[in-house]
Amino acid sequence: MACAEYVPQGATLVDVGTDHAYLPVWLIQNGKVSVPVIAGDINEGPLNKARSSAKEYGVENDIVFMLNNGLAGTRESLADTVVIAGMGGETIMDIIKASEWEWQGHTLILQPMSKIYELSRGLYENGFYIESERLIRDNGEIYRVMLVKPGEREMPSAIELYAGNSDREDPLYKEYVSGLIKKFSRMEKGMAASEKADGALLDEARSLHKAALELGKEIGL
Ligand SMILES: C[S@@+](CC[C@H](N)C(=O)[O-])C[C@H]1O[C@@H](n2cnc3c(N)ncnc32)[C@H](O)[C@@H]1O
Repeated sequence: MACAEYVPQGATLVDVGTDHAYLPVWLIQNGKVSVPVIAGDINEGPLNKARSSAKEYGVENDIVFMLNNGLAGTRESLADTVVIAGMGGETIMDIIKASEWEWQGHTLILQPMSKIYELSRGLYENGFYIESERLIRDNGEIYRVMLVKPGEREMPSAIELYAGNSDREDPLYKEYVSGLIKKFSRMEKGMAASEKADGALLDEARSLHKAALELGKEIGL
């Protein structure tokens, strides 16, 4: 639902890694997107699940199913909005980099399961920026949902990339930053205690811990 809320009204959409296709089905049923929606998946099994869902909810004629890797076989003129959700951050970045799209004015909605710092950094290095972000909790875990646009912007600081730019008043943001403080503190202590610790890595852990503590102070932790 967090991804769906970021989809602009009337969008033309590609859902990469659609799996059960719940997102396209919901968006079509709620009149939020233009049809057809392109729903792709690299695996036959999930794509069959997507076909079944579409049939079950009576929207099978509104979805074009593609068995493909990422955005392979698609071009930028097909859609103005791309969702890539529920995959590792590195896979998401690889999919964007491997695409042959000329990105211009598109909206990307990304929901990484891991390697969020690497994805965030990679986006800025590859001519994208994070316009806004939301945090959601699912099954006890906090996830980040990003609204990304093509365009050159200055690289945010490391702590900004780690913490993201969600609403600072959101209690989940405080919890997320608090988790980062603990993580960097553990990292720093672990490295300081290790005889084989790399000096540069220890300095990095120290500076991240310090930056996270400062951010924590700013948001009243
Ligand atoms: C955990 S599911 C996420 C489903 C849905 N997007 C969601 O967020 O609820 C991940 C799906 O991505 C597909 N996938 C993984 N790598 C992919 C790639 N490179 N291109 C297309 N689909 C991929 C998998 O087959 C799987 O169906």
